[in-house]
Amino acid sequence: PRFFALVPAAGVGERSGAGQPKQYVEIAGRPMLAHTLAALAAVPRLAQTLVVLSPSDDRFEAALPDCRAWVARVGGASRAESVLGGLAELRRRGAEEDDWVLVHDAARCLLQPAWVDALIDACQHDPVGGLLAQPVADTLKAGDADARVTATVDRRDKWAAQTPQMFRLGLVERALLALGAAATDEASAIEALGLAPRLVRASMANFKVTWPEDFELAARCLYQVGP
Ligand code: CTP
Ligand code: MG
Repeated sequence: PRFFALVPAAGVGERSGAGQPKQYVEIAGRPMLAHTLAALAAVPRLAQTLVVLSPSDDRFEAALPDCRAWVARVGGASRAESVLGGLAELRRRGAEEDDWVLVHDAARCLLQPAWVDALIDACQHDPVGGLLAQPVADTLKAGDADARVTATVDRRDKWAAQTPQMFRLGLVERALLALGAAATDEASAIEALGLAPRLVRASMANFKVTWPEDFELAARCLYQVGP
């Protein structure tokens, strides 16, 4: 089987407050999406990367003129729909039922090729597949609408899920179709089938740029490790 990357980049980035889709916000001199795709392009084991854009996206070609990834304007109203559109596009381009698909958020632009290799090494002989994740280090609180603590949650068995999330094309497509737009990641759809994805430790640096202050944090990290 081959390994494909699928990058959902069809969101509007509302929480980022950037006034534009966050994947096009420049971080350390390049659009966030360019950093994400450069990391995936540096993983030789990946046969190809497919970027999923919104059907109304008119910025990609100008923002990433040298991009060698496949591009499809098949994004939907939810992340799960965008991923499903991308999986169908991968099939159209020759990917097969048993090929592995590594779904990776455009917004995780600090991805390092070594983490992708670690995920593939850990999961390529696994019957289910798995995801990058990080054991939770902070004490966890549940809070109410007034930001008052309602409970302290045992953190000892908790992991923060990241991406890439790596599953076989046929399985992840079946799982997402069954769970529908509710799935915020591929693993939760796989879990709903009664399967247990493998958790592969990466780094807190693999965070998802979500809030306004995250752009600055990502820029600092990129200047540290180099673009
Ligand atoms: N995504 C997508 N299609 C959607 C929604 C999200 O392809 N309909 C992508 C985003 O572009 C992002 C990834 O899924 O790379 C993770 O989603 P998130 O961080 O929630 O991004 P947005 O949905 O754009 O941001 P927000 O939820 O703040 O609006
Ligand atoms: Mg979102």
